[in-house]
Amino acid sequence: MHFDRNDTNQPLYCQVSDYIESLIRTGTLRPGDQVPSIRKLSRQLEVSINTVKQAYGHLEDHRLVEARPQAGYFVQARSLETPGLPQIDRAAIHPTEVTLSELSQMILRDTRNPELLQLGVNLPDPESLPVDQLRRMLASETRRLGNDCVAYALDGGYPRLRKQIAKRMLAANCTLDPEQIVITTGCMQAIFLALKATCQRGDVVAVETPLFFIFLQLIESLGLKALEIPSSPDDGIHLPTLRYAIEQTPVKACLVVTNFSTPLGSCMPTAHKQELVALLDRHGIPLIEDDIHGDLSFSDMRPTVAKAFDRNENVLLCSSFSKTLAPGFRVGWIAPGKYFKKVNQLKTLVDIASPMPTQMAVAEFLANGGYERHLRALRRRYAIKVAQMGDAIARHFPPGTKVTRPRGGFFLWVEMPEQVDAIALYARALEHGMTIAPGPLFSASGKFGNCIRLNAAFWSERIEAYIQTLGRLAADQL
Ligand SMILES: Cc1ncc(COP(=O)(O)O)c(C=O)c1O
Repeated sequence: MHFDRNDTNQPLYCQVSDYIESLIRTGTLRPGDQVPSIRKLSRQLEVSINTVKQAYGHLEDHRLVEARPQAGYFVQARSLETPGLPQIDRAAIHPTEVTLSELSQMILRDTRNPELLQLGVNLPDPESLPVDQLRRMLASETRRLGNDCVAYALDGGYPRLRKQIAKRMLAANCTLDPEQIVITTGCMQAIFLALKATCQRGDVVAVETPLFFIFLQLIESLGLKALEIPSSPDDGIHLPTLRYAIEQTPVKACLVVTNFSTPLGSCMPTAHKQELVALLDRHGIPLIEDDIHGDLSFSDMRPTVAKAFDRNENVLLCSSFSKTLAPGFRVGWIAPGKYFKKVNQLKTLVDIASPMPTQMAVAEFLANGGYERHLRALRRRYAIKVAQMGDAIARHFPPGTKVTRPRGGFFLWVEMPEQVDAIALYARALEHGMTIAPGPLFSASGKFGNCIRLNAAFWSERIEAYIQTLGRLAADQL
């Protein structure tokens, strides 16, 4: 298409955006291709830099292009095909007993097999973590603290770490009192303590669906029931449905991953977080908030947390350093609001205190290790890998497939045509040397049978062949 700035009465940025759109529609620019840089296009079309920026912003809003940090703008693969909020059937929203253990145990077993390419795991790529620096800090801090390094970290955990966590959370607009934070053995233990402090056997917990499968297993093991509320990749848990559900059913707690949830990668808009806190407050229902991916936003803005709006100490905020520093260090934390005393007591019963040396190393890394610099590199790395894996899925999966375009974290949720059975695909994928996380794992009621979650953290060009195989295996089922 020829660009003629006098051709129409539209604003100039719309003409530029139409021009690029036509190059995409006619296939001159293909999914995954880089579009001309802002400077280059401004020179080429003889329009200002600002006009091109406005045009690219417009194309981004319409999901035709996407910005990749430090790399420029790219045509979105299958730009209009991202999974949306599923059709909501209110009659189907009722508490469900969870019985997923066997399936998830089988998958956890396979994800420990070093022979397999692990596209189904929850872990970050160790290559992206500051392993050497952490090792040095473990040694220097345990030396510096002498005999204290073998003591119990009682009364909520190592004080220096709790101060560093409170300081970091200011970036999420959340003011925490270090004295009101309890260090836990990973985020998983924080969620466990939060559920134990707020619920009793037989109680109902409202959760977003799809939900991180280990949480469903935890709900199962505590004898709780899950009330599954649909969630969308764009803005997370559907608040009108949650409001309706808690008016119908007595709910004892609500568990939500507010920022870059797994598997959907959704990030609740700030206004939704505020509304969620107010809604649950009105009904006296505690919110258990998981922010484990909050530091992994692809933009420079760290999203806020629902806890920032917690006026009545009704939010139990949970997180850890498992996705950003060291999953095996098992350093997590909880700011449990008015449940502080109960959580602290339960923590003592479970394991007395979390290990001291790893708390020391993480505290030192946060204070002097360049955590912000490390996060910047990590976010850039994951933004690129997530985009590249998304493009590969668009190239190799059968028509009708949809894939999320998350703005943080490192997971992709792939919704394939309805005939594809994700559990059968799991078995075929194993035969071809890889694991995936099948959709039904993420639901207590067997939903998402045609979906899978893939971990993009390990993406490299070598992996494209596996994605191609996976796409072919999915197509074989049609
Ligand atoms: C959303 C979410 N929360 C919690 C956890 C558990 O974190 P940790 O390893 O710190 O216990 C995971 C781990 O994959 C997760 O994805």
